[in-house]
Amino acid sequence: MANKFYIGIDLGTSACKLLLVGADGEAAASAVREYPVSFPENGWSEQRPEDWKAAVFDGIAELAAAAKRRGGKVASIGVGGQMHGLVMLDGAGDVIRPAILWNDGRSARECEYLNHEVGSDFLLSHTANIAFTGFTAPKLLWVREHEPENFARAKKILLPKDYIVYALTGGFFTDASDASGTLWYDVERRRWSPEMLSLCGIDEGMLPRVCESSDVVGEVSASVADALGLPRGVLVVAGAGDNAAAAVGTGTVGDGACSISLGTSGTVFVARDKPSPGGVAGGVLHSFAHANGRWHLLGCMLSAASCNKWWCETVLGTRDFASEQAGISDGMLGCGDVFFLPYLMGERAPHNDPLARGAFLGLGMGTTRAELVLAVLEGVAFSLREITDIARRQGDITRAALCGGGAKSPLWCRIMANVLGIEVFRPEKEEGPAYGAAILAAVGAGEFATVDEGANAFASVKDVFTPSPDLASRYAEKYARFLTLYPTVKGLWM
Ligand code: XUL
Repeated sequence: MANKFYIGIDLGTSACKLLLVGADGEAAASAVREYPVSFPENGWSEQRPEDWKAAVFDGIAELAAAAKRRGGKVASIGVGGQMHGLVMLDGAGDVIRPAILWNDGRSARECEYLNHEVGSDFLLSHTANIAFTGFTAPKLLWVREHEPENFARAKKILLPKDYIVYALTGGFFTDASDASGTLWYDVERRRWSPEMLSLCGIDEGMLPRVCESSDVVGEVSASVADALGLPRGVLVVAGAGDNAAAAVGTGTVGDGACSISLGTSGTVFVARDKPSPGGVAGGVLHSFAHANGRWHLLGCMLSAASCNKWWCETVLGTRDFASEQAGISDGMLGCGDVFFLPYLMGERAPHNDPLARGAFLGLGMGTTRAELVLAVLEGVAFSLREITDIARRQGDITRAALCGGGAKSPLWCRIMANVLGIEVFRPEKEEGPAYGAAILAAVGAGEFATVDEGANAFASVKDVFTPSPDLASRYAEKYARFLTLYPTVKGLWM
């Protein structure tokens, strides 16, 4: 019998990343396709689902050919992806308007209404979460108010990765981890919340059916299989939100295990065996379903590696991040007066302030380019420490996996270990969400009995960063100064 391969897809915000993984857990091939994000107004962000589909299909065709060249056969596909995005389809299954993304801040008024008029107690009791501008429900309320004709045409509402599953199979499905970020889902009971649906004026028929992440939801349709060079009968699993998928890919499945992503967003993910009815820390941390049938806590900052990308690409005009970081000497770490606030798209955790904006502070005539590059890396690390400290109140965190594009930088990993004061490690397969999605696909195809079994079998550690007492204490001091900055400047952007 031909070698079996699994395709894992990460439908990210800057690009989709696809991995072809063999039954031995090794990545045999990979593909990346970029697509644009548009910012129609300050703080808004949108993408065209049709661009996602074209990019993903192109990547699958490349991997299908790679599998054939190796004398193998793709058995199943799993999709992980950016969460919360609002994809609206009409009765013919066509996209009505560009997707409104997870880091879009236009629904501040709708969140005000949900958190304060409907009330956070109501939201927490029915969903275990409060409203944030990126969540799907407030964005749909925005469309209902500002684009009533689009709202009236909507027959189906999907999350980004579910649109890809629809494009592959023709079916409407989601999974519990991604459904958690809509604010329509009762996370504790793992079902759509009738109270939240009626509050938002939609019926359950408009939403996809919720499955567990490794459940097979269909097969790639014959026409798509032929077009992409896939064999007939390739299975498609429900997949997961990118953070839950990354957690599977980094082996973050046991109670209390932590993974941190330095992607476009920055997230702190803590796996939990039990749900958190009524939410966590008043909803500052999201309380979501995990891809392994259990639960997790998640704190999300909206701009993490994207701050470095913005600073280097848009401002400094270079894509060579490593060369920029080469100018940072050991003696500069944790020293100096230069700070960066990473709120380029507003902020979710810990401030829940869509109007916040980024800033450099503490500049002098002697400030160098390298100091500014370092301030960006440190500012993101400090924000992730704020989130981690909130998560630590729920239970000790002793080590964390690091993934996402930012984790490619050993310097940034070292800064993270010393700012957090814990050991951080990089997994062998740095493409966390894509690898996790491939594991979910392998479970769906019967390679493993459970998601935990697959995650534990495939995830492995590449290298470890341990905090050093001197540097960690320098960072503790600089972090204390960082904490005073947002309260001081936030009035500028009210
Ligand atoms: C999580 C979140 C982001 C997106 C994009 O709540 O909004 O992590 O999933 O990656």
